[in-house]
Amino acid sequence: MNTITAAITAVGAYVPEFVLSNQVLETMVDTNDEWITTRTGIKERRLLKEKGKGTSYMAIKAAQDLIAKAKINPEDIDLVIMATATPDMPVASTGVYVASQIGAVNAFAFDLQAACSSFLYGMSNAAAYIQSGRYKKVLLIGADKMSSIIDYTDRATCIIFGDGAGAVLFEPNYEGLGLQDEYLRSDGIGREYLKIDAGGSILPPSAETVANGQHFVFQDGKTVFKYAVSGMADVSEKIMERNNLTKDDVNWLVAHQANRRIIDATASRMGLDESKVLINIQKYGNTTSATLPLLLSDFENQLKKGDNLIFAAFGGGFTWGSIYLKWAY
Ligand code: UT7
Repeated sequence: MNTITAAITAVGAYVPEFVLSNQVLETMVDTNDEWITTRTGIKERRLLKEKGKGTSYMAIKAAQDLIAKAKINPEDIDLVIMATATPDMPVASTGVYVASQIGAVNAFAFDLQAACSSFLYGMSNAAAYIQSGRYKKVLLIGADKMSSIIDYTDRATCIIFGDGAGAVLFEPNYEGLGLQDEYLRSDGIGREYLKIDAGGSILPPSAETVANGQHFVFQDGKTVFKYAVSGMADVSEKIMERNNLTKDDVNWLVAHQANRRIIDATASRMGLDESKVLINIQKYGNTTSATLPLLLSDFENQLKKGDNLIFAAFGGGFTWGSIYLKWAY
């Protein structure tokens, strides 16, 4: 019997219509388009503005886009993994609701939270379920409504983040395509530098925590930047080394879109030409769990069967890692 590998066989995406440009941010906080563009590469981001709609709304849209494009029957999906740092609610799994809403009535579902690395860790999970031989269709969704946890008076964070969703389908492959290797890392030292203080079990929400703005994201950008640059470059170099990949063997770098300078530093350490680096940060900003599938969706028609893709991400916690995957279609 041939070895089972786990391949991505379909992609879907959704971003909200509302665009928040750098020019509009200039009227909200003390910032300017030139600073944001040169320091981050971001020009605009999408926000889900409609009241009462959460992360699940975008996740369902992305999943439905995939289902329609791939012409699959949602009843055939075995598992839905919902990668998100902004679930609809703290309790009651968002993934379970999404699975029911898209008609994946035979699937089980759960949420996976690893901050900006949620989707990358989700790829590892989805692939392991497929490689076990027990599951044939695993739907991995990455979605975040970052606007629900961002303080739009804090220029250190509000310029960076956006909302969005993307989805991929993992299926067994018998030609050796799909996920080849992974190198996932984490380090609790990061807890102080990128966090939301209140709303969890240490500091439950109260009128006081809300008054203090402790339900919003806090980021020590400089420190996170330093760790992100070395972390993402290290794991990407390591995964190339241990799979004997030269810069010519790598077709695409699919990196978390947090800051253009972090992506460029990673590409440079890998020796990659700019033309191999997928970039859409200018359109969406940092959508946390959605950046990687949104890249796949935007660049899907440039990817060819057998292409070598290196995925890389870095996020709060800290969490980070790299995945080597051969494109299957
Ligand atoms: O995805 C999860 C992981 N997150 C990340 O990877 C994000 C990592 N961090 C970053 O991307 C960057 O640190 C930021 C984009 C957040 C900030 O860029 P930076 O180059 O690290 O800026 P900085 O914090 O060192 O600030 C430089 C200067 C400061 O002024 P002084 O002290 O030099 O006078 C800031 O006060 O820029 C000022 N500044 C701003 N100016 C205009 C900070 N934020 C802004 C702003 N607009 N929005």
